Amino acid sequence: MELRKGLEDIAVKETSITYIDGELGRLYYRGYSIFDLAEFSNFEETAYLIWYGKLPNREELSEIREKLASKRELPPSVTKYLMEIKKDSNPMDVLRTAVSMLGVEDTDNSSIMEKSISITSKIPTIIAYFLRLRRGEDIVHPDESLSHAENFYYMVNGKRPSDLESKAMNAALILHMDHEMNASTFACLVVASTLSDIYSSVVAGISALKGPLHGGANSEALKQFMEIGDKEKAEEYVLSKLTKGERLMGFGHRIYKTYDPRAKILKGYAEGITKEKGIYNLYEVAQKVEEVGVKYLGSKGIYPNVDFYSGLVFYSLGFDADMFPTIFASARVVGWTAHVMEYLRNNRLIRPKAIYVGEIGRKYVPIDDRQ
Ligand code: CMC
Repeated sequence: MELRKGLEDIAVKETSITYIDGELGRLYYRGYSIFDLAEFSNFEETAYLIWYGKLPNREELSEIREKLASKRELPPSVTKYLMEIKKDSNPMDVLRTAVSMLGVEDTDNSSIMEKSISITSKIPTIIAYFLRLRRGEDIVHPDESLSHAENFYYMVNGKRPSDLESKAMNAALILHMDHEMNASTFACLVVASTLSDIYSSVVAGISALKGPLHGGANSEALKQFMEIGDKEKAEEYVLSKLTKGERLMGFGHRIYKTYDPRAKILKGYAEGITKEKGIYNLYEVAQKVEEVGVKYLGSKGIYPNVDFYSGLVFYSLGFDADMFPTIFASARVVGWTAHVMEYLRNNRLIRPKAIYVGEIGRKYVPIDDRQ
């Protein structure tokens, strides 16, 4: 039996959701280029596309908008939990627990699709409530008249976004919605394949996304830029990191061996929005880190990934750095649930093998006779 560490290059399912061309740096949802979707679409439309496989007509779009907008408020038990939890708790732990509580509260028999829409609708509320509560601010209840992305911004900041903020928020969420097979999506599938429930799958996805090698790299990347502080110090910082054998956060990808297209798009938003917020110096530091990083790592196929510029965008949109993985989760939940539904149409229990390398036939020794 062949051992493939990290299951690299092993396919677990067929999909018509997302296609990645890692050599050319291209990404497609349901056949549509990510460049077009980030430029022209919005959260609701792209979520519909990923879930249902086609772009919605006007009626379908207003229906999905209405559904997503009407399900945002949390059950009282979840709001109470967010009020009482320690304010220095890891936001991904808080999100994981809150989604798990939503599962306990949801006792109706609606379809996985309806439950997926409901979870997607509520995750931004969980994040925004916790963010404001730990800052000692009052929570801002969702506003049904606002779109998904605008309402998310509104619940965090207590005011409506500017046009650029709204565009950046939509684009950033679209870019994080799906990415074919990856650690968190696979975790969701493992749970779903046992015919467990969709909440349990999403909880598994959040748990896998929490790690710094997956969704946690965006906050680490921003921390790097803050630590460097001045673009003149970027080269020295990158070199010292690489000499010590450390990884440059926001660089490298299992699939992309060139620029991650999401990084290219987010770079444009990061430039505009950091200017609007008066933190353009951080963007300049990032640009310099990118330049130096590509100089030393580019020949190995290691380039900026989605997390490199997303942190700058999220930070400019009013989110704290340790909250970034939760925003990633708020968008990726669309991909997770779409993959679960696609997999369950032709389910097979995921049950891999391990190659045993230990001993067999050892003699049991009573505890008093052991060395
Ligand atoms: N900085 C420096 N060296 C790197 C980096 C990096 N960011 N990424 C990979 N390498 C080197 C690594 O040291 C190794 O070198 P060598 O062959 O000399 O030992 C080589 O590249 C291959 O590394 P690997 O870990 O086997 O490659 P992988 O395909 O498993 O890596 C990765 C993918 C994302 C885990 C890795 O690039 C990494 O740790 N990046 C930093 C964390 C990060 O930005 N994660 C976000 C990923 S994108 C968002 C997502 O999908 O969740």
